[in-house]
Amino acid sequence: MIPDMMRAVEISEPGGPDVLKPVSRPVPVAGHGQILIRVQWAGVNRPDALQRAGLYAPPSGASDLPGLECAGTVVGVGTGVTRWKTGDRVCALLPGGGYAEYVTCPAEHALVVPVGLSLREAAALPETAYTVWSNVVDRGALRAGERFLVHGGSSGIGTMAIQIANALGARVWATAGSAEKCAACTKLGAVAINYRDEDFVKVLGKSGGADLILDMVGGSYIARNLKSLADDGRLVMIAFLGGAKADLNFAQIMMRRLHVTGSTLRPQSEAAKARIANDLRCELWPLVEAGAVRPVIDSTFPLADAAEAHRRMESSEHIGKILLQVADEG
Ligand SMILES: NC(=O)c1ccc[n+]([C@@H]2O[C@H](COP(=O)([O-])OP(=O)(O)OC[C@H]3O[C@@H](n4cnc5c(N)ncnc54)[C@H](OP(=O)(O)O)[C@@H]3O)[C@@H](O)[C@H]2O)c1
Repeated sequence: MIPDMMRAVEISEPGGPDVLKPVSRPVPVAGHGQILIRVQWAGVNRPDALQRAGLYAPPSGASDLPGLECAGTVVGVGTGVTRWKTGDRVCALLPGGGYAEYVTCPAEHALVVPVGLSLREAAALPETAYTVWSNVVDRGALRAGERFLVHGGSSGIGTMAIQIANALGARVWATAGSAEKCAACTKLGAVAINYRDEDFVKVLGKSGGADLILDMVGGSYIARNLKSLADDGRLVMIAFLGGAKADLNFAQIMMRRLHVTGSTLRPQSEAAKARIANDLRCELWPLVEAGAVRPVIDSTFPLADAAEAHRRMESSEHIGKILLQVADEG
């Protein structure tokens, strides 16, 4: 029985974590090509904090509620949906709306909960899996034997990137800002570089340079990333936590045949996200089910404590993913 109203957490006004307020909202209805999910766990991502601060508007047509991923049970299917039926356990990439008891999303953006994972673990997968696969494997074209560097190695994105790159047979380096974070990166299979003590340009230089770098920092890292690349190397930007501007010598891009690219996931078309989902189903999910790639979970909070979860994220003390428990696991 689906109720008319649900518990949710909304952004009452742009601002700090305290603007996240528990509210009652109407349960959404699955439209054509969509499914309705009863959410048990929702992922917290850095872009949620940007949206909360008024710096990242939801795309048109998306829920104003935060929340880009969840895991739960399908409780409704819209017209034209053949992939799912009521009762299926899924995790899904959402255009928004995950901080709620019910959410709708395009049916093609949901994935089956991998065998061996709980709903809690599955909720930690979609945003990082879509982002890392599309930027490291598709855009970055990482191949076995290549040298891969990821910045923010202990982040949700970083912990996924280290594991995927390892599973693909790459040699992996990761930067992080504390001994504890570096230990976590090492445990996942990366050579960890504590950027407070060591210069990643020198470390990578000694090994011949990186073939691919995944960067979320930007700012002063941009020029240093180019220096760290081997000839023909690729730099993929997915965020600019340290700033988006840099003073660059472009000649090295020409002389050493470097590639600089990047992407953001959320504004991409439904069809583009469905293509990524298909790659995840075929190529990443078998690695997850084999235990080669596992979500790293830092902490969990009840939905009503979403503000506390955002404080944890913005403290940058976390290692891996932060989750909200929306309902008991059934
Ligand atoms: N382009 C896309 O499609 C896409 C999709 C999802 C996420 N993202 C972005 O990817 C990044 C990682 O996402 P996430 O959810 O994994 O976040 P997260 O877990 O909070 O990771 C951010 C990490 O970046 C490091 N960092 C370096 N410089 C920083 C700075 N100036 N401010 C804050 N942190 C800094 C921090 O680790 P240290 O303590 O080691 O510095 C922190 O753990 C975010 O910026 C997010 O917006 C992009």
